[in-house]
Amino acid sequence: MADGMTTERDPATGLERQPVIDEEIRETSHKYDVAGFEELQPRRDYPPYRSSLLRHPTKDLQQVDPEGIELWAPVFGRRDVGELESDLTIQRGGEPIGARIVVTGRVVDGEGRPVRHQLVEVWQANAGGRYIHQRDQHPSPLDPHFTGMGRCLTDAEGRYRFTTIKPGPYPWRNHHNAWRPAHIHFSVFGTDFTQRLVTQMYFPGDPLFALDPIYQSIVDPRARERLVATYDHDLTQHQWATGYRWDIVLTGTHRTPLESDFEEDQS
Ligand SMILES: [Fe+2]
Repeated sequence: MADGMTTERDPATGLERQPVIDEEIRETSHKYDVAGFEELQPRRDYPPYRSSLLRHPTKDLQQVDPEGIELWAPVFGRRDVGELESDLTIQRGGEPIGARIVVTGRVVDGEGRPVRHQLVEVWQANAGGRYIHQRDQHPSPLDPHFTGMGRCLTDAEGRYRFTTIKPGPYPWRNHHNAWRPAHIHFSVFGTDFTQRLVTQMYFPGDPLFALDPIYQSIVDPRARERLVATYDHDLTQHQWATGYRWDIVLTGTHRTPLESDFEEDQS
């Protein structure tokens, strides 16, 4: 910005203001548009996401051969995961506050084949945008009836299904007045331990998308839209819950953008 430091930073927090971030997002997006090649995964060193600059890997990944058993053994068996673990609204002896939702979809490979009987884990903020986590101390109440964690196994068609509470947006310290769009974190395994995907699911029409450096770190607009669930009125249940559908594609050109574990603690 031409006006210098006084308008670039908030005087109380010393943090940069949103327009500084917006400008960088716009610049990167423009460069991507004119570059003419597809980039479908998030950038690990994306300047508007400030801390990514210092902690992204700077060397190539070390290739190691997986143990034989990791390549063919099922990751989780039926007995490891209880039926009730997919319902985040019944874990703490009372009903959590917020809008009840159902989130379901399929986990498939690049050919559309189901990833069967594998573990899907979710974690999320409560309706007020607060996590049960020592590092989340922003002034929004914890919900004694909500842990924000659940898991299930996909069925024979690769389907998963969770009942939960719609998470709220929450602030973070990337810049002044930075807010994450509402999201649910997902971890899925493919057919073996060597295929783990960690990503985030978003809700359609969120006004924070354009402002969020994590969402925008997937610079291709079609790729980042793959992280946005679809509202599905057929899933919505009378007098009970609204429904969202979201499929996860593990491989191929329509693969769901993933993030590496090192970003987890911030987002
Ligand atoms: Fe998060």
